[in-house]
Amino acid sequence: MEECIILAIETSCDETAAAIIRNGNEIVSNVVASQIESQKRFGGVVPEIASRHHVEQITIVIEEALQRANMEPSDLTAVAVTEGPGLVGALLIGINAAKAFAFAHGLPIIGVHHIAGHIYANALVQPMQFPLLALVVSGGHTELVLMKEHGSFEVIGETRDDAAGEAYDKVARVLNMPYPGGPHIDRMAHETNEAVEFPRAWLEDSYDFSFSGLKSAVINYKHNMDQRGEEIIPEQVAKGFQDSVVEVLTTKTVRAAREFQVKQVIAAGGVSANKGLRTSLEQAFEAENIPFTVPPLKLCTDNAAMIGAAAAYMYNAGVRGDLSMNGLPGKEL
Ligand code: KG4
Ligand code: ZN
Repeated sequence: MEECIILAIETSCDETAAAIIRNGNEIVSNVVASQIESQKRFGGVVPEIASRHHVEQITIVIEEALQRANMEPSDLTAVAVTEGPGLVGALLIGINAAKAFAFAHGLPIIGVHHIAGHIYANALVQPMQFPLLALVVSGGHTELVLMKEHGSFEVIGETRDDAAGEAYDKVARVLNMPYPGGPHIDRMAHETNEAVEFPRAWLEDSYDFSFSGLKSAVINYKHNMDQRGEEIIPEQVAKGFQDSVVEVLTTKTVRAAREFQVKQVIAAGGVSANKGLRTSLEQAFEAENIPFTVPPLKLCTDNAAMIGAAAAYMYNAGVRGDLSMNGLPGKEL
């Protein structure tokens, strides 16, 4: 890899983040300002509020990243920023900050796909081995991505309705848990050995996923119990839901890893912080004898370090954006 020091910026959803990454694998600094506390009041991310937070935080976060790295703009090789997908108003704050910074300091700018970023979080932990299979599970995405080399992404399966994290957050709301609900469901699921039985959406002969039926099953279960005047046991509901999600994600990931004879499997995105999912995938791939890794928790949820890691490989491949860069809320991988 050509020597490069990249300032990366990520504002696609509700974290305002900046990081400095050396040569695609070393985190020099990594700053994340979360809006979770203020978004909690609304039970989810309100796009306009997210944009307002980003506007307030972005320059502070960028300065902090430089300061913690003990670097000046003149030490940098390039600026990278999440181009999409995400909330358009939120993306534009990061993109405009990146453009202004790049223009002011005469640096090239690189637009990065958010999911590529989640996958490249792994490059900060270990070298990537190809062919590689990535299970990307976040609040906005559930995808199985096959990579045959750096920069090549083939989506072999994706959700047909809700993303895994979205289902977690919606079920958490039914159980009166605050946003984001994933970590709460995860914790509750581990507090019992009894599970309410919920369906698994296998979608035979496909690597696609579907979680909205499961979500409706949980809602209906609660509704029926309420009507009968019976109390639900939230831990058992959480465990039943999590068991269903984890079993489907694990089974399909294993099947794809076998079919494409991959050398490495990684999990990425906010839901890969899930303890039940991590344990299940670790055990399954130990049995398969295929190396499996998940980045540490703080690199699983949204951050700019992962964007800097992906950008370093793009920089080496000669990819450059320009000042006409726009927010791409539905950007394809
Ligand atoms: O990757 P991320 O930070 O943002 C997106 O790009 O969407 O993922 C956020 C999602 C939320 O839905 C949150 O509930 C979920 O990740 N999440 C979890 C856990 N930690 C975060 N879901 C299940 N179990 C967890 N431990
Ligand atoms: Zn994300």
